[in-house]
Amino acid sequence: MTVEGLPMAVPAPGLPARVRIHEVGARDGLQNEKSTVPTEVKAEFVRRLADAGLTTVEATSFVHPKWVPQLADAEQLFPLVGDLKGVHLPVLVPNDRGLDRALALGARRIAVFASATESFAKANLNRTLDESLAVFEPVVARAKDKNLHVRGYVSMCFGDPWEGAVPIHQVVRVCKSLRDMGCDELSLGDTIGVATPGHVLELLSMLNEKGVPTDVIGVHFHDTYGQALANTYAALQHGVTTVDASAGGLGGCPYAKSATGNLATEDLVWMLRGLGIDTGVDLDRLVATSAWMAEQLGRPSPSRTVRALSHKEQ
Ligand code: HMG
Ligand code: MG
Repeated sequence: MTVEGLPMAVPAPGLPARVRIHEVGARDGLQNEKSTVPTEVKAEFVRRLADAGLTTVEATSFVHPKWVPQLADAEQLFPLVGDLKGVHLPVLVPNDRGLDRALALGARRIAVFASATESFAKANLNRTLDESLAVFEPVVARAKDKNLHVRGYVSMCFGDPWEGAVPIHQVVRVCKSLRDMGCDELSLGDTIGVATPGHVLELLSMLNEKGVPTDVIGVHFHDTYGQALANTYAALQHGVTTVDASAGGLGGCPYAKSATGNLATEDLVWMLRGLGIDTGVDLDRLVATSAWMAEQLGRPSPSRTVRALSHKEQ
């Protein structure tokens, strides 16, 4: 349980008043679990996240079930979650077949997911980078035609386990392609968690310089080297107001071995609260949800904040 008044809210100059958290625990988190979580538990997880005040809760993926068996129940899960008032439930879609499946269930927000590197495009999508962009183009066009909101993820924006450091111009090219296709929003993925704050600022500046405005950019950090919050702070200073995070710090990526957990939503909320930045999230409810999910998974949450606040309850 949080202690009233903690953390003390002390605003810092030049930061946004409000941040929208794009919660990815039910998708990015659970796709990487060794065990497959029962569909009813996933639905309860999504509902509890919404109940904690998260307004964007990525629900699942309409990918090939053999590639990500943990999310093979997307058809059963999506209707089970139901219509949560005021809460967006985006889903991942890798191709036309995925979009068909998402549309059949009434999804209103989708995300395509590109890579900034050839190696990860091959590992994750079984395509070259340009082939994968060619697959996305008609998917995004059809989704926009149906008035869906489309997010474009770009993985490996800072480093890649096979290729090492990723040149910024390579990331910018993929971001621009996704914008040109019609993606409403981008998410810059540090899939293996190797970014540092200066690199984040440099990429954001280059994107702006090449015509991608900050207000369409979200950031997606992993905490492999403990840099996720520092990188987030840098992005906030640059004016970014959409931050991806995963409840309890769940997840990594099944097709990138060195990817460990995403930035934990609780750790993010703790910092934003301290900075006096509004997120609309009830931290106690969120921590209770992650503690519950950790029990379902049979292991403790890697989130420092979940551990600190759950410990206080005992
Ligand atoms: P492929 O084997 O090249 O597929 O996989 P294909 O196009 O050759 O089709 C083969 C068969 O799969 C066909 O069936 C298709 O119908 C079927 P057949 O004719 O042989 O019976 N198929 C599908 N079935 C169901 N749903 C579909 C679908 N598509 C084809 N959507 C494919 C290509 C893209 C499908 C595969 O590589 C795939 O599913 N990849 C998904 C990988 C994934 O989900 N990775 C995790 C998400 S990315 C991530 O986590 C990073 C991120 O979080 C950012 C970060 O953390 O930094 C976003
Ligand atoms: Mg991730």
